[in-house]
Amino acid sequence: MDPRAATNPMFGPNRFKLGVFSANCDGGLTISLAPERWRAEWDDIVAMCRLADAAGLEFILPVAKWRGYQGQANIYGKSYETLTHSAAIGALTERICVFATVHVPLVTPAFAAKAMATIDHVTHGRAGLNIVCGWNQPEFELHGVTIDPETRYEHGVEWWRIWAKLLEGGSEFDWEGEFFQLKNLQTDPISIQRPRPLVMSAGFSPKGRDFAAQAADALFTTVTEHGQVANLLADVHGHMARHGRSLPIYAMSHIVCRPSRREAEEFFHYFAEEMADVEGRAYHRGHRGAVAGSGNRVAARPAENRFTRATGRSYEGTYPGTFPLVGTPDDIAAEMAAMSEAGLAGTSVAFLDYLKEIPYFLQEVLPRLERLGLRAPVSAEAQNRASS
Ligand SMILES: Cc1cc2nc3c(=O)[nH]c(=O)nc-3n(C[C@H](O)[C@H](O)[C@H](O)COP(=O)(O)O)c2cc1C
Repeated sequence: MDPRAATNPMFGPNRFKLGVFSANCDGGLTISLAPERWRAEWDDIVAMCRLADAAGLEFILPVAKWRGYQGQANIYGKSYETLTHSAAIGALTERICVFATVHVPLVTPAFAAKAMATIDHVTHGRAGLNIVCGWNQPEFELHGVTIDPETRYEHGVEWWRIWAKLLEGGSEFDWEGEFFQLKNLQTDPISIQRPRPLVMSAGFSPKGRDFAAQAADALFTTVTEHGQVANLLADVHGHMARHGRSLPIYAMSHIVCRPSRREAEEFFHYFAEEMADVEGRAYHRGHRGAVAGSGNRVAARPAENRFTRATGRSYEGTYPGTFPLVGTPDDIAAEMAAMSEAGLAGTSVAFLDYLKEIPYFLQEVLPRLERLGLRAPVSAEAQNRASS
């Protein structure tokens, strides 16, 4: 077992791992005008993260955003910066892994090494880093930074090498590379997790997957139907094999869990289709893939899922690439079991209103996953400690 399992539940024994995604942002993971949508109020974020922590979920994954998706809802228009967010959430939780998300073109490796070591000490070894090489140029304009489509992932690999070497500790070193020429590199303190905090990547393009295969400890990806998982895993495992590595692979899900399937499906249709922010969705469509770089285009996006309109497009208000888990607690547990069976290590979850909806999910779905042998129950002592 990885020595980091002693402190970071992402390396722990649960066969199907779960975490909350995108709750640091207005709108969460839903491009919807529904008035019930998530407003990302700080105290609500804290309350929700503490519930997830007490229930034994493995991670909190915030999104690094600098500009909203426009449209009427302007989702992501308000978002908490993720390094500071995760330091704070880390101090207010007990067990859960707290990710911070860094855009490589915006943060130097030495800054990120010091920041991640800080969060790792605050949390006694529960920090995680999501490395993003950039995909949306309008978000970078306020920094005066231009994403280079041809070299963004090569730049990312060199950034990651410097970051990882800094966290090894030891005496000062200089770096003469293709993208970085740096002097007097060192950082103190180094991280508690050895050799470094957990790294994840969500690169989707061929170069993005290759980056993850080299630099990451976990790959998050987009899949919208069970039928897509086998091909997806075959491709991703091909990238990993080229680097002699094998990483756990996670999906990204949106949960609508209700006592009856009809209730869940009607609510999903309401906020994700009737109340969809079509302009916000069009903004995302217009920018996705724009900086992929030559020879690095994604051959085929995941096919649309079963929640489609007559056009064959998924409900407009769902975030593209999100797996919709919509139904009763039994339905959702069965879908997660199918994900696990297909080879996925876990999934992130999101809700229209995280704080309102997560209690029912935790109370009803987690015990079912435990009965299926996918997760171990959390001890009463640990639950009390986390919720006190
Ligand atoms: C789970 C997940 C988390 C992500 N987090 C961020 C983020 O915080 N900020 C961001 O700009 N992009 C984020 N991305 C985008 C990816 O890093 C990546 O750019 C995208 O999947 C497209 O892949 P490509 O860059 O290889 O073309 C995320 C994607 C996923 C699936």
